[in-house]
Amino acid sequence: MPEEAKADRRLPGQERRAELGSQSPLWPAPGSGLALAGYRRDHDEGEPERDWPEYRGTILRHPKRPPVPIPDTLSELTGPLLGADRIGAADFDLTAGLGGEPQGQRIIVHGVVRDGNGHPLPETLVEVWQANAAGRYWHQGDDHPAPLDPHFEGVGRCLTDRDGRYRFLTIRPGAYPWRNHFNAWRPAHIHFSLFGRAFTQRLITQMYFPGDPLFVHDPIFNSIRDPADRRRLIAGFDLEATAHEWALAFRFDIVLRGRARTPFEGAA
Ligand SMILES: [Fe+2]
Repeated sequence: MPEEAKADRRLPGQERRAELGSQSPLWPAPGSGLALAGYRRDHDEGEPERDWPEYRGTILRHPKRPPVPIPDTLSELTGPLLGADRIGAADFDLTAGLGGEPQGQRIIVHGVVRDGNGHPLPETLVEVWQANAAGRYWHQGDDHPAPLDPHFEGVGRCLTDRDGRYRFLTIRPGAYPWRNHFNAWRPAHIHFSLFGRAFTQRLITQMYFPGDPLFVHDPIFNSIRDPADRRRLIAGFDLEATAHEWALAFRFDIVLRGRARTPFEGAA
């Protein structure tokens, strides 16, 4: 291995954040701001079932009456929006910033965000959160007896670039138990949130990893009835996007509307 590459690996977190930030061709810089463009409310098919008895949490939180449409007003259509200046150039890197390397398999997760017509969506806020390599969230509500990692908080964000691309550097999350039923384990996943062109356009979903043996046992994954819709939540291994001697890569493209739409939680 070249000495330069070895030196890169030894960089402490803050230095490597800068190293992998806007200066690197591997890591496109975030856009200049969130665009405010046309807005259209619509309802699509393919979302998870709201009332899914196998997923016990839906029993109490799914609506029992038909939704009441609320007309959009100017405030819903125009804001508030997150200021682009709040997003740091290194916020895409979940492995840095806490003074050391987190435990686990380093991975790149990237993809393109498109609208229902297949057009890439630039300057869309993409946020992620996830468990660490041991399957534990850095959250007070998580008491799973797996170790916390002092170098991994598990949250990141970025804006899509002008071609609709986003990219994160993170750690492959572990599966975790979730007490839905005896011996219930969630497949490894990364939570995604996307903000659109208006405050009301927040979409949340989960990305999974190919070949996970827990798919068939997971009521949340299977609350999406159509196998084709479920497959849209599984990232593809992307050899070309891997970083030599550094990280594996997975591609997860997101489509907001139409027949190829990515299933989202609570969308309707
Ligand atoms: Fe989760």
